[in-house]
Amino acid sequence: MSPTRSRRRLIAGNWKLQFGPTHAAAHAAALRDRLLAVEDVDLAVFPTAMSIPAVVDTVKRSNLRVGVQWACAHAEGAYTGANSPAMAREIGCGWVLCGHSEVRGDFGETDARVHAAIRGGLKHGLLPMLCVGESVEERAAGRLREVLERQLEVAYGSLHADEAATVTIAYEPLWAIGTGVTATPDKAQEAHAVIRKWLLGRFPEFVAAQTRVLYGGSVKASNIAGLLACPDVDGALVGGASLDVDAFCAIVDAARR
Ligand code: PGA
Repeated sequence: MSPTRSRRRLIAGNWKLQFGPTHAAAHAAALRDRLLAVEDVDLAVFPTAMSIPAVVDTVKRSNLRVGVQWACAHAEGAYTGANSPAMAREIGCGWVLCGHSEVRGDFGETDARVHAAIRGGLKHGLLPMLCVGESVEERAAGRLREVLERQLEVAYGSLHADEAATVTIAYEPLWAIGTGVTATPDKAQEAHAVIRKWLLGRFPEFVAAQTRVLYGGSVKASNIAGLLACPDVDGALVGGASLDVDAFCAIVDAARR
């Protein structure tokens, strides 16, 4: 297995349903100015869909990339309420978040639709960021591996190795999202190792070596260093703390080598 060092770290902010266009543009401008000199860590933000054009306009020609939090598989058609991966690309998105637990839980997103969304993203030039994670009951029942492997198996589905290598994974245990309870580095590493081992068994070695596996769930400036010290943690997907410029910049700082 290649050392962590060969994978560039990625810190992404998931703004969820916060910040309309005006607020989002101001927040993005502050991040852009503060993070100007960061060349050694990849950066991305996921604003709510309605704020994406304002954010894209604010961060153009900067090192901040923008993603859509949820897109269906279809470029266009009779799909009321959906986001199109093709249109997300057209307005300047580079990433698509697939299978976030809030989309799975609140809107009934299924593993099969997550696969379709990954395919749709790839077809239209978006980098997929696949979210997986277990519930507190599943972890307590010793089902971590089984749950993660099922989510991964269906989400990757028929992707061939070159496609699979473009996917980033965010391991987000449900019990850590928005709760203030972060996985300990040991618990995060245990899950990340399960994920990388699954990739290794399923695809040629380069896919597991290249794939970035981010941790998400109550990441803060005070716990990021311990998480990043784990050999299989390649960055973070940050929710609550990404809404605060100082907190997000401190997390990015901690990820610099
Ligand atoms: P949190 O959210 O950092 O607020 O726990 C993470 C996420 O949902 O991506």
